[in-house]
Amino acid sequence: MLMESCISWAQEAGAHKITLEVFPHNDAALTLYRKFGFQQEGYFSRHLRRSNGDLWDLMVLSRFLK
Ligand SMILES: CC(C)(COP(=O)(O)OP(=O)(O)OC[C@H]1O[C@@H](n2cnc3c(N)ncnc32)[C@H](O)[C@@H]1OP(=O)(O)O)[C@@H](O)C(=O)NCCC(=O)NCCS
Repeated sequence: MLMESCISWAQEAGAHKITLEVFPHNDAALTLYRKFGFQQEGYFSRHLRRSNGDLWDLMVLSRFLK
């Protein structure tokens, strides 16, 4: 419902595209986003530093609107 609401809001606001960021290991989120037509546009390696010092990759997904 949140995804549908977000996409509808963006369409009504006149946006042409939505982008989002997600960790590559987040399979549930990736599955959900792909079901809504989002496709990978970018991949940032070792992009975010976690509090324990680990560096995590980050994916950018996008979807064009009508
Ligand atoms: C992302 C989130 C909102 C998805 O909600 P949801 O759709 O209710 O999640 P589900 O657990 O039902 O999983 C969605 C799909 O991913 C699949 N999935 C879940 N965990 C998975 C895993 N570890 N590996 C592969 N697929 C997985 C499910 O089978 C489901 O697919 P299906 O509908 O075809 O059965 C929920 O997982 C969540 O709140 N996560 C924590 C916050 C978060 O990660 N937000 C996104 C930040 S970018």
